[in-house]
This record gives sequence, structure tokens and C-alpha cells, in this order.
Amino acid sequence: MATIKIIRGDITTMAVDAIVNAANTSLLGGSGVDGAIHQAAGPELLAACRPLNGCATGEAKITPGFRLPAKYVVHTPGPIWQDGQHDEPQLLANSYRNSLNLAAENGCQTVAFPSISTGVYHFPLKLAAPLALRTLQETVNTTATAIVEIMIVCFDAQTQTAFTEALAALPH
Ligand code: APR
Repeated sequence: MATIKIIRGDITTMAVDAIVNAANTSLLGGSGVDGAIHQAAGPELLAACRPLNGCATGEAKITPGFRLPAKYVVHTPGPIWQDGQHDEPQLLANSYRNSLNLAAENGCQTVAFPSISTGVYHFPLKLAAPLALRTLQETVNTTATAIVEIMIVCFDAQTQTAFTEALAALPH
């Protein structure tokens, strides 16, 4: 049974099997956690992303981690929040589910996630946190049963609070 932990920190320092990157559909880098991951992984990461020809929102693609302590990077573009009427919740759930399944398919047992879409993409944190945790719990119980530990790596206190409260409220 996989454990889900909420921690405060910088995902680029996580020595886990896979870290998840909150990317954009081009997969050619950006700001936020995407920028930090590319900066830490080095130029080979962008070179490995180019031939992937981008990635659709909610889908996921995997590359090596290169100079990162993590073995793999799973890249997923989360949805850009508009008004909640454009499938944003379903697309965010897809990003979490597809990323975890792809990591498990590549033999990963420990996976670290950032808070996908709640930065530049403006997905409301109070909606995103419970949705993310429910999706991850359902995925480890059904398709990604090889996963041992999931960490949500929160870059700021507000995100950590939202995910900690959502974890406490998660039905076990
Ligand atoms: N470690 C962990 N989390 C981080 C880090 C880091 N080093 N840097 C930023 N974050 C957090 C942000 O504080 C936020 O809580 O990641 C969360 C997601 O924010 P963004 O990085 O802005 O990602 P997102 O909202 O999904 O927007 C994606 O931003 O960087 C561009 O190329 C990216 O176009 C894409 C868009």
C-alpha cells in the first residue's frame, strides 16, 4: 500500500525514482517548476524533450533525469484554469493519473509531484489539492500498484497547508 507524504521543498533536489514536471504542451521548458527542473537537469533534458514533439494537456511523457538526483522526469502539461467549465478538473486528474501510471510502467517506486497547474496556470489550490490526492490514491489502488511512496513537494507554505489539509480529509 503506497504512502502519500506532503513535504515542503524544491522538487529538483529529490532523490526519487521520478519527479513530475508541470510542463507546457511544447515540452520546451518555461518558468516555475519547469524552469527549475530544466536548469537543474542541464541541457540534455531539453535535447531529450525536442524529439517528443510536445505533449497534450493531461497526457504525460518520460525522459531521463540527467543531472538531477531523480532517475526520470515525467513531463505533464496540466490544464490552464479558465472558469471550471472547460474540463479543467478532469484534465488535472488526467495529469496526475497518467504521470503516475507512466512512472510505474517504467519501474519507478518513489515519485515526487509538484502542485500541478496551481501556479502560472491559476488552477484554484483549494480545488486542486483534494482532486490530486483522490486521483493519486485511486491510481495506486488500481493501476499503479507497484508504487511505494508518493511525495507532494510544496514550494510554499500555502500549498503545503492546502495539501496537508486535503490529505487529512482523504477517506482511507
Ligand atoms: N519545486 C517544487 N515546486 C515548485 C518549484 C520547485 N523548484 N518551483 C515552483 N514550484 C511550484 C509553484 O510554486 C506552484 O505551486 O510548482 C507549482 C506549479 O506552478 P508552475 O510551475 O507555475 O506550474 P503551472 O501552474 O502548472 O504552470 C505551468 O508554467 O513554467 C511554466 O512551462 C510551464 O507553461 C507552463 C506553466
